Amino acid sequence: METQQAQPEFTSMPRIGDKAPEFKAVTTQGEINFPGDYKGKWAILFSHPADFTPVCTSEFITFASLEDKFKNANCDLVGLSIDGLYSHIAWLRSIKEKIEYNGMKDVDVKFPLIEDITMEIAKKYGMIQPNEDTTKAVRAVFFVDPKGIIRAIIYYPLSLGRNFDELYRVLIALQTADAFEVATPADWRPGDDVIIGPAGSCGTAKDRMDGKEDMNCKDWYFCSRPLAKDVVLDKVLKDKNF
Ligand code: BEZ
Repeated sequence: METQQAQPEFTSMPRIGDKAPEFKAVTTQGEINFPGDYKGKWAILFSHPADFTPVCTSEFITFASLEDKFKNANCDLVGLSIDGLYSHIAWLRSIKEKIEYNGMKDVDVKFPLIEDITMEIAKKYGMIQPNEDTTKAVRAVFFVDPKGIIRAIIYYPLSLGRNFDELYRVLIALQTADAFEVATPADWRPGDDVIIGPAGSCGTAKDRMDGKEDMNCKDWYFCSRPLAKDVVLDKVLKDKNF
């Protein structure tokens, strides 16, 4: 099979652990400086392929209806597509006035939506994946921590709407890992046991847990401990009853 060569302008992609590339942008909520304006908070920077398209519309309605839940976890949302500002404004108005999805209607998108007609920001973040589409961003999601460091990246193709429960789970898991110096196993949710120490370092885990009886080691490399849901939520949420 013949493989297409990616063009150099599309090949730069920030990675986990990198400082989030800086940019200034015009949005539906005014100008923003990213990540500077979000210092001290988590931010989710996400792209969508195009305004006035159905999958993106279902995603925006879902994300907007969850915005307060993300804010309660100290996380702001920032959207981007390579459409212009007036397209964004008209699309968001149409969503509010005309579209109902999964029982959600009359939805106000209050988070900023970046206009990026030059594709400058989309290219900087590797959101244009030319073998998928050269003129639309894929569905990229960047989790940026309060220090402006990229902590997780998820990419979806054009045809696949994102799972917003998973995006929220990732955010809470990252915050839990930071707050309690633990890792989170497959399908982890608050209340489930957490993994102690980085993978493969049970020595470290044992040292750290010395004298604590609740550590459960299945083998030298697989140690976990309980971490109560209330303890997690008290730490990472502004209002745990939200
Ligand atoms: C959509 O959001 O429906 C969509 C956008 C671009 C390509 C395919 C689907």
